[in-house]
Amino acid sequence: VCFLRCFYLLVPFNVVVLTYTPRVFQVSKKDFDGFKKLFHRFLQVKGPSVDWPKIHRPPEDSIQPYDKIAALPLPDSLADSLNKLVVVKLNGGLGTSMGCKGPKSLISVRNENTFLDLTVQQIEHLNKKYNTDVPLVLMNSFNTDEDTKKILQKYTHHRVKIHTFNQSRYPRINKESLLPVATDIGMMGENADVWYPPGHGDIYASFYNSGLLDQLITEGKEYIFVSNIDNLGATVDLNILHHLVSQPNGKRCEFIMEVTDKTRADVKGGTLIQYDNKLRLLEIAQVPKAHVDEFKSVTKFKIFNTNNLWISLGAIKRLQEQNAMDMEIIVNPKTLDGGQNVIQLETAVGAAIKSFDNALGINVPRSRFLPVKTVSDLLLVMSNLYSLEAGSLTMSQKREFPTTPHVKLGSSFTKVQEYQTRFESIPDMLELDHLTVSGDVTFGKQVSLKGTVIIIANHGDRIDIPAGTILENKIVSGNLRILDH
Ligand SMILES: *[C@@H]1O[C@H](CO)[C@@H](O)[C@H](O)[C@H]1NC(C)=O
Repeated sequence: VCFLRCFYLLVPFNVVVLTYTPRVFQVSKKDFDGFKKLFHRFLQVKGPSVDWPKIHRPPEDSIQPYDKIAALPLPDSLADSLNKLVVVKLNGGLGTSMGCKGPKSLISVRNENTFLDLTVQQIEHLNKKYNTDVPLVLMNSFNTDEDTKKILQKYTHHRVKIHTFNQSRYPRINKESLLPVATDIGMMGENADVWYPPGHGDIYASFYNSGLLDQLITEGKEYIFVSNIDNLGATVDLNILHHLVSQPNGKRCEFIMEVTDKTRADVKGGTLIQYDNKLRLLEIAQVPKAHVDEFKSVTKFKIFNTNNLWISLGAIKRLQEQNAMDMEIIVNPKTLDGGQNVIQLETAVGAAIKSFDNALGINVPRSRFLPVKTVSDLLLVMSNLYSLEAGSLTMSQKREFPTTPHVKLGSSFTKVQEYQTRFESIPDMLELDHLTVSGDVTFGKQVSLKGTVIIIANHGDRIDIPAGTILENKIVSGNLRILDH
């Protein structure tokens, strides 16, 4: 880490002058260079990054159904393939949206196991079963690195080698002046508000810069399986791995994106399109306003990106060294606590698909996309809808339909801690289709919810669902207090 002086960015008529003021804060040379490059590109970009009429449906064979790939027999030599694999989890995020402090990966999701515990258990299980050494790599951010590392000590005796690297730390910039906020606030280099981790697209540069990528290649690793750490469906899939490693030379597939069928709940997810004869990820942020409804339609764009990606390590190295990793910039507006409007420039890991050779989409079952973003998601994965085995969650055999219920918990449930006090035990949800809960509601032990259940306590009222209640296609409203006597 070197000390650089704080920089001013002056932007008259698109001429950027980078100079340094005497104020000093800590930023690494690599972060500074990375930010400079991204910022330059941001200034050069004019208008939307896609020309709508040039968008085509991907050719038949470029997005393959999972069943087709899974139909091929797996060889006996699976261990060889597994030994070429590295599991990478995106671990830069905080648990803020679920009312938790610290890294999201350290939130308990099932039987006191955190996202990270489940990940480690899954990989350990693989390594034991196949006698392999698949390592786990965590991409941390400056927000999560310290807390994560403290926890990692508890896995020293597990059969999983764990590596970490940091993603970059870039300065947020003022929306109007385009000056880094850091210069306005002054010498507050440690103030998290002035910095941000620039999206998971940063993985390529940070992984390469950390030296870990080279190290893993030297150790004989060839592919990474990347996913969000909060996607509990993102387990190592042996069929996809086998498909990846068994492509003939000359047709080596460098990138697989797992996509899945879009439902009304995922209309904002990025989709795969054919553009300039290559597969390309189209994110809603890139879509011209006039086409947003078209983008969201389930009929025209049928699939979306799960962010489960299989990528060749050698290809990442080559593209980094050729400076050829091409990702659209996502401009993310934010309002800081002080009311200041800022933007942060980000990229998405999947956007690089167009830079890789012989990229492929695989349309996977919905079960590989089980993200836990809200407390409502958490309720589902904690319930008897899922069973836990070797760190993996699978939908219970006892559920009659393959779909998960729609759960909407109101604002009294947003924080994990509050939520925990509201359920004496997690209700039986095997036959639930839809649950809406709003207001001051608590659940006693062994409640069973079936069909559509709506529970609404108006302001000032409270509803305690008594232990053992079975609610089937019911609306509960008003006031129902249960008092000790
Ligand atoms: C990663 O970030 C943390 C927090 O900013 C820092 O303490 C740590 O030294 C960084 N690690 C590396 C390898 O740069």
